[in-house]
Amino acid sequence: MVTLEGVGILTVTRPEALNALNSEVAQQLVETAKGLDGDRSVRAIIITGQGSKAFAAGADIKELASQNYSQAYNGRLLETWRGLDGVRKPILAAVNGFALGGGCELVMMCDIAIASETATFSQPELSLGVIPGMGATQRLIRTVGKAKAMDMILTGRRITAAEAEQMGLISRVVPQEQLMPEALKISRAIAKCSAPVVAKAKDCIKRGLEVPLSEGLRYEMREFWSCFALQDQKNGMAAFLQKQNPVFTDG
Ligand code: CAA
Repeated sequence: MVTLEGVGILTVTRPEALNALNSEVAQQLVETAKGLDGDRSVRAIIITGQGSKAFAAGADIKELASQNYSQAYNGRLLETWRGLDGVRKPILAAVNGFALGGGCELVMMCDIAIASETATFSQPELSLGVIPGMGATQRLIRTVGKAKAMDMILTGRRITAAEAEQMGLISRVVPQEQLMPEALKISRAIAKCSAPVVAKAKDCIKRGLEVPLSEGLRYEMREFWSCFALQDQKNGMAAFLQKQNPVFTDG
């Protein structure tokens, strides 16, 4: 993990296994993200994979292969990943290559996802005799809709970065060498905003995925009103009226 100008960069580094996500990686990545969430100097988090071949080629099949039901159930197999859900700060996935199975699911756990032109995405779990276990059956349908979710999960078809962008799985595609500069540019733009306001926006959007529209709108309204308790609302609007750049204090 490195931090750069208020951005925490987490790099999955298991090149010998195409950055496959074993339990140690899960533990480290989730704990580090939670740590960064509590660090006031960090304002956004980027997750990427080492090298240009793989973001993450899925959960570690060597680790999964010998599990039986009792071990999976009692050991809460893959449940560690749910810890990322509690992170308030924005998490950006910079997808640098294969995002397969759990790798594609990790992309969907993030708030913003951008990819290099050579990145590919798939949910190949059915070919391994299991269903996805890091959220794809739930997040894919909410991200790309039923038709594409069924297609990806039932066929395991690999899709390109361009198709992933077109279907809304990611928001931008850039040349490989531009991936981290673009990820940092996005993160720095977020970092300039008021941290509690950014957290409120993220929270409302995530809430919207889980509740009926009327409840989501009510939730947004209350969170919007609560912004007026912040000095940052005063600073932001005063700066606009005085034609100056806003300075936020996270208060
Ligand atoms: N788990 C463990 N090891 C993996 C891995 C994975 N998911 N993916 C790749 N590796 C390992 C390979 O076993 C190989 O190791 P060895 O040299 O020790 O044999 C090394 O990484 C390099 O891989 P390949 O030789 O296969 O590289 P390739 O370029 O020929 O193929 C690939 C690349 C197409 C990504 C291929 O490696 C592949 O299909 N990987 C598995 C993808 C997959 O099925 N992912 C889903 C996992 S299950 C899951 O994620 C469940 C869930 O919902 C959470």
